[in-house]
Formats: sequence, C-alpha cells, structure tokens
Amino acid sequence: MVNIMRILLVGGGGREHAIGEALVRAGAELYVVAKHRNPGLARLARGYGLARETDVGKVLAYAEKFGADIAFIGPEAPLERGIADIFEENGIPSVGPSREVAKLETDKAFARAFMERNEIPGRKAFRVFTDVTEMRSWIDDFGKPVVVKPIGLTGGKGVKVVGYQLKDNEEAKAYAEELIRRDGKVLIEERTDGVEFTFQVFSDGRRIIQMPLAQDYPHAYENDEGPITGGMGSYSCSNALLPFVTKEDYEKAFETLKATVEAMRKEGSPYKGILYGQFMLSREGPVLIEYNARFGDPEAINVLPLLKTSLLEIAEGIVDGNLRKAEFESMATVVKYLAPKGYPTNPLKGVKVEVDERAVEETGARLYYASIDENLTLLGSRAIAVLGIAESLEEAERIAESAVLHIRGELFHRRDVGTKESVEKRIELMKELGREFEPNPC
Ligand code: GLY
Repeated sequence: MVNIMRILLVGGGGREHAIGEALVRAGAELYVVAKHRNPGLARLARGYGLARETDVGKVLAYAEKFGADIAFIGPEAPLERGIADIFEENGIPSVGPSREVAKLETDKAFARAFMERNEIPGRKAFRVFTDVTEMRSWIDDFGKPVVVKPIGLTGGKGVKVVGYQLKDNEEAKAYAEELIRRDGKVLIEERTDGVEFTFQVFSDGRRIIQMPLAQDYPHAYENDEGPITGGMGSYSCSNALLPFVTKEDYEKAFETLKATVEAMRKEGSPYKGILYGQFMLSREGPVLIEYNARFGDPEAINVLPLLKTSLLEIAEGIVDGNLRKAEFESMATVVKYLAPKGYPTNPLKGVKVEVDERAVEETGARLYYASIDENLTLLGSRAIAVLGIAESLEEAERIAESAVLHIRGELFHRRDVGTKESVEKRIELMKELGREFEPNPC
C-alpha cells in the first residue's frame, strides 16, 4: 500500500526526466528542484523550484514549501553535501544515501579501503599517496600499468589510464604528482583490462533488488574515440544480461553489490537508495572499477521505462526498509544522447535547437530532455536523449536512430551506440583476452 504522494525530485538531467516520468506513472505528485527548467520535467511537475542542487538549504526550503513526503535525489553532488542527512533531520526521508555512505562514490580512497577491510569481492590492487617520492617508487616497484584517480568527484573527467590518456607509467607518475600537489593525495590502482558494464540495484539498507545490466558508451566519438564524457548512450538486453556477460559473471558482480550493502549495514550505515556498480569484466571475472551512489545517466533511461513495479512503492520500500520487488519488462533498449557540438571540451551554448516531438513519437521512440531549457536553448552538456525499446537490440537501435532525424540543430550523437558491430567488437575483445563463452542473445 503506497501512501506517499508528494515526491520532491532533485536534479534536472535526462536521468531525472526518466525518474520523474516513472514516478508520475506510478501516481506521484511530482515536484522538482533543479538549476534549470528541464522542458520534460516542467510538464510533469506540479511545482518547480530553481536552485543549484548543491544549495541544500534552498532545496530544503522548496521541499518544505511543496510539502514533500519524500525526496528522490538524482545526482551525486547534493549527496556529497549531505542532502539526505539534512532532509532526514527535517522529517523528509530520501531515496539516496547519507553523506557517509555516499563516500563510496564521492571519496575513492574511502571506497577502496571499505572494500579492503570488508573483503568485498571484485577488488584490485591500489594505494593512496600523499607523498610524491613514495608514490613514484611504488609505481616503479609495481611494474604493471596503472590508473591514476583524483580522490573526489570529477564528473568523470579526472581519471587517467596508462595506455589510454597516459602513455606509460612515467606519465602516470607526472600526473599523480600534479594531483598530490593540487589535492594533497592521489589514488593509484592497478589497470584492469576488459569490457565495462553497469549493474544498478535498489537497496533499502538490507535487501537489494537488481535492475537489468546496461552498457554505457563514455567516449565522445564513434568507435570509442575522443574524450570521456558523462556517457553518449547505452543499451540493455531483453534477458537483463549483456552479450559478453555470462550468468556466472552476473552472479559474481551481484555478490559484490550484496556484500557492499551488507558491510555498510554492519558498519552502522545502511545503504538506502540506488547503488551503481561500474564493473570491468576482466579475464578473471568482474572487477569493481567504481561505485556510484545514484542512478547512471544515461543508464536510468534504459531501465526505468521498463519498470513494471510502481517506483513509488519502491521509493517507499527504500525509505521504510521494506523493499519487496522490482520487476522489469523483458525488452531491449538503446539510448542515444545528442550533445552540443564541441561537447565535452568546448561545448556550444546558448543556441536553439528544433525538436519535432510528434514526429519522434511516430517513430516509436521516447524523448528525454537534459541540459536544455524550456525554449530549447542548449546549456552546454548532453541535451536530449532518445530511447528505443523493442524485442531485439537491432530494432531498439533502429528506433532510436530514426528519432534522431527529427531533432535539428548544432548537435552530434554516436550512431554506433547499440549497433551489432559495436557489440561484436566488445565480444571479440573479451575473446582476445582469453575468455571462452557463448555470447548471450540480445
Ligand atoms: N554513465 C555513467 C554515470 O552515470 O556515471
């Protein structure tokens, strides 16, 4: 029985448009606070407050004004500011973890130490350094290629990997030194080779319920080239797996997430919200690359439209510690983001685009607005997502691509998201690493 009706959604991106849509579909009265008026959310919401999501005092004032029963926190930055704790103190429970628990995402040194002391499966070698000389000699002794990570949130832009953004361990040492001088410390990890995938679960602090796996395309340009972005698109399969992730790999990754929630509970900090595991499927199995303390963007757009269970019921279950079920349609999905030309390094802003919503609807695709305001002016980040849903990945991809034709302006997107060729490339990569498996249908 769902009693909660008034939900305050914090955030105004494509992910939040998908969350808001699922909440309204479940019968919620939706209120939104975000730093811009997302045209999709503005249509769904009964009230809309404009504020930076990290300005927790202002967001709380809107929550009280709107009489919110519960808050749903979209992005990570307000979680880092302790929005869930402050709302809790003011009688508004949140779907989104406390500041301490959100450190799994907001403090990478905390996350690695937490995994280590709790022996969470899917670990990798790491060290945190505050001293340049120690860091340099550890990398020399380690001998294998490394990953250099800033400790805090970087919007996906600060992580550098030897063999990709860094030529060799010499460049890694120079970059790590720069970070120590800037931030006082740096995280160095062993590089893990393989293919990445996203595993999102709902958690009420004790119980977790899995969502279909998804695969994100973080590079700006086709063929996985160009700078790392927030994610240019993603796909998911009707069987909730991915073509290169076996049932056994899936179970191992699920163990990592279960052990994480269990250890958090034992440490006295129950995980209440959405836990996102970014895994690398290596030759040996899934390795946790990073935790996120919220839905992925775009991955939320893959899974939420497939949700058969009421998102209100799930939200209530999360805050009451009484999460029961989350069922999804068995369909494939493809999300493609359209971003302003120049994104992410030098994005065009302040220019209008045209969207023929009716023509998009006729293709069977759905639209999700993101970094774009109500008069369709680009704000500088990923602007609009199109979603194709179908029984097969091929058909979902075709639907998403046909919708793109009805959005005109100074935008670009990746045509290869969810295509047969790009999926096969990932399967081949896993085979080259020495894994033997029969690819799952998608
Ligand atoms: N798509 C990656 C993320 O949401 O962090």
